[in-house]
Amino acid sequence: MAVLFRDFIYMDAEMERASRGDILVEGDRIAAIGPGPWELAEEIETVQGKGRTLLIPGLVNGHTHAAMVLLRGLGEELPLKRWLEERIWPVEAGLVPEHIYWGTRGAIMEMVSTGTTCFSDMYFEMDEVAKAATETGVRCCICRGLTGDDPVKVREGVELFRRWNGKGNIRVQLGPHAPYTVSLGALKEIVGSAADLGSGVHFHFLEAEWEEAFIRDRFGLSPLAYLEEAGLLETRGTVLAHCVWFPEGEVPELAGTSVTVAHNPTSNMKLGSGHAPLQSFLETGVPVSLGTDGAASNNRLDIWGEMRLCALIHKGISKDPTAIAARDIFRMATLSGASAACFEKLGLIREGWQADLVMVDLDRPHYIGWDPDNLIGFLVYAGSSSDILGTMAAGRWLFRDGEFPGQDRGEVMGEISRCRDDLLGRALRR
Ligand code: NI
Repeated sequence: MAVLFRDFIYMDAEMERASRGDILVEGDRIAAIGPGPWELAEEIETVQGKGRTLLIPGLVNGHTHAAMVLLRGLGEELPLKRWLEERIWPVEAGLVPEHIYWGTRGAIMEMVSTGTTCFSDMYFEMDEVAKAATETGVRCCICRGLTGDDPVKVREGVELFRRWNGKGNIRVQLGPHAPYTVSLGALKEIVGSAADLGSGVHFHFLEAEWEEAFIRDRFGLSPLAYLEEAGLLETRGTVLAHCVWFPEGEVPELAGTSVTVAHNPTSNMKLGSGHAPLQSFLETGVPVSLGTDGAASNNRLDIWGEMRLCALIHKGISKDPTAIAARDIFRMATLSGASAACFEKLGLIREGWQADLVMVDLDRPHYIGWDPDNLIGFLVYAGSSSDILGTMAAGRWLFRDGEFPGQDRGEVMGEISRCRDDLLGRALRR
């Protein structure tokens, strides 16, 4: 399959300014950028941009728990620990594989319609997530959430890696849940297994304020020393979700390690967790991706919304309108997220790179006044995911003009609703 995008505006986070031209997609890659002429395959779809449609790289959700769409709305407005212990964990105890499968299918619909072509997912029954992603064509980096000291679970994570890593659009990491749910000994074992496999590690870290004191009291270590002790600074790639309470004084030491911070501004705001020292991470060169976290704590899976909120809250908190440039946020939502999810040649519009592309309609009132130099600001501050006309991953349309090619929207909606009723019913019966 080949697609010719004719007369489009295009832009990625490393381009100084937006450009205008044609983009040829062949198979799963961007084959050429230019004006042509090119020798075109007979079987080609031509999409006319008329100089009023923008192509950006697919957005990457750097941290989520996709099937939590089934738990959306539960325990609204509770603090993190009570929210987990009273509302989330008791319901999650009743999750069965078909819940995960249909929950993930629903989450994928939500994500692709808001421009996300790749997501990093930590949950249970991850074969179901891999299946849902493979069937729909979206990319994902999965890890089984590991809690406690049970070696069986660690083995499951390792087997998941062997089964799925590198298969089509799937990558796998190991996923110890958090410092307060996994012992330091178990964490070291997991990191050791990751080193043997050559896999990355995905970990929740310092989401809530009490976690730093917990780490100091329990292990006698500062957050950075704890990461060092666990081996998390030297893996093939460590994703630390949240880092809201990462001590500013230790941030410079994170630069140059294997760590990417997954920043989840809406979830952090909604759970009242606080705000991460994002400016320090960016200024010291610590890579940062952007995530939604699960739909139970957001409650959207819309990275575009995260870009705008991220731009605004850090300016407001620091009382500095120059804090966090729109271009940096766009990089977090594309290239940085793609690298943290273990994908190569993903996140920029370049010849030979993966054809994960999002079509954005610039022919709308709130884009009047855009030019090649200011477009990135228009996108982050004025744009929204409702401007999206189409989403493609690896050269395949996942969303187009309000439809989901290859998916039965009614079936997915019905199954999500049925699974939610079943799941909540199980929790009530216990
Ligand atoms: Ni999370």
